[in-house]
Amino acid sequence: MFSTYLDVALLCHPILAFLTIQHPKMRSKPTNLQYYFVSFLSLLFLRYACSYYFILLDQPAPTVCVSKDQPNPIASLYPGNATGTLNGTIGVIPIPLTLARQLIPPQYGILEHAYRSLLPSFPQGMYPAIVQALHDHEVQAFGFKIPDFSRTGIEFPFIDLLHDNSTSFKWAPSLLMTAGNDVALKGAMDYGTNTFPSTFEPGCDAYRTVSNSNKPGTTFFSATSLKSGAASLSALFSPAKYEVFPLDFFKNFTNQPTFADGKTCDNMIRLFNTSVTAEPYGIEPVKGTVRAHLPPFTGEQEWTNVYGLRLDTSFIENNYLPCENFRGYGSG
Ligand SMILES: *[C@@H]1O[C@H](CO)[C@@H](O)[C@H](O)[C@H]1NC(C)=O
Ligand SMILES: *[C@@H]1O[C@H](CO)[C@@H](O)[C@H](O)[C@H]1NC(C)=O
Ligand SMILES: *[C@@H]1O[C@H](CO)[C@@H](O)[C@H](O)[C@H]1NC(C)=O
Ligand SMILES: *[C@@H]1O[C@H](CO)[C@@H](O)[C@H](O)[C@H]1NC(C)=O
Ligand SMILES: *[C@@H]1O[C@H](CO)[C@@H](O)[C@H](O)[C@H]1NC(C)=O
Repeated sequence: MFSTYLDVALLCHPILAFLTIQHPKMRSKPTNLQYYFVSFLSLLFLRYACSYYFILLDQPAPTVCVSKDQPNPIASLYPGNATGTLNGTIGVIPIPLTLARQLIPPQYGILEHAYRSLLPSFPQGMYPAIVQALHDHEVQAFGFKIPDFSRTGIEFPFIDLLHDNSTSFKWAPSLLMTAGNDVALKGAMDYGTNTFPSTFEPGCDAYRTVSNSNKPGTTFFSATSLKSGAASLSALFSPAKYEVFPLDFFKNFTNQPTFADGKTCDNMIRLFNTSVTAEPYGIEPVKGTVRAHLPPFTGEQEWTNVYGLRLDTSFIENNYLPCENFRGYGSG
């Protein structure tokens, strides 16, 4: 970081010197040029002493994450917005509505009529919790890219945050996220998310093919918090013969404004119509098992027959907005 400031100082230095020399009052003093060289050389010295110091600190060199993910296709379309791609698995975990009611803060209603209008045959007395196991790739804005990271958690869609009995919000109270990616970690924590810096398997991709499985196309994903025993999530998914939930249901809940402590909302716009979702990559229906140990659930949970989709999408993200801005959002 400090060496970056020095780089800027070094870059600006000749410009400052030029301006000083151009200034008529200063021109008479011959010492200006000497001052310029001395200070330039000292900055240069500091700069290299500094990078040497940071090279020492960086040992051993961190392994570079090389992802199989396709590039962000919309970065140049929305240069002034945060964009990226999200590759991974999204699954629907039916849980008893009574359990959902215990887990979701009591001040927020659950819009059962909203999910029933999208899923008329969803089992009575049940609520669709969501698991997302994702790899964020080429996240950028104004040409500045942040390093890729992974994240996973259980989320609660169709929440009546505004008490209007109509606008659906998604509550995402906790998240396992790649340790060391300070920009992403801080970004999540600023929403009041219970964020667990974690290691992921695979480290730089959305999932890994299990080669010794009896079901071809089975993939694996896992996350473990650095803080021992604090949180974990693992998932094993194989191709499903049919889609249990319509694509529109996934489009709907993934695009609900998301909150954690309710102070601000995250408007993540997932696009299902860009090149990363199109053939030959496509959207694959999957079925699998998810094991999780993370709040607000207590103890280790295991859910089998979790139906979902494996896909990549592009996204545009508008951060830290007043939740009130989304009254009526999506009712178009
Ligand atoms: C998504 O990730 C998987 C696993 O790394 C990879 O095989 C696939 O090509 C990726 N999809 C896209 C569109 O990048
Ligand atoms: C891009 O960012 C601007 C400014 O924050 C915002 O007004 C606009 O809605 C964003 N574009 C999209 C497509 O979300
Ligand atoms: C919320 O809206 C639904 C659908 O319009 C309606 O059936 C239900 O009675 C409403 N609930 C309340 C508390 O107003
Ligand atoms: C893709 O979908 C978004 C909304 O989800 C829409 O705004 C956009 O126009 C679509 N783009 C194309 C090329 O169809
Ligand atoms: C999601 O579904 C609900 C319930 O049918 C609907 O009111 C809302 O407009 C949908 N939102 C989006 C973004 O499609």
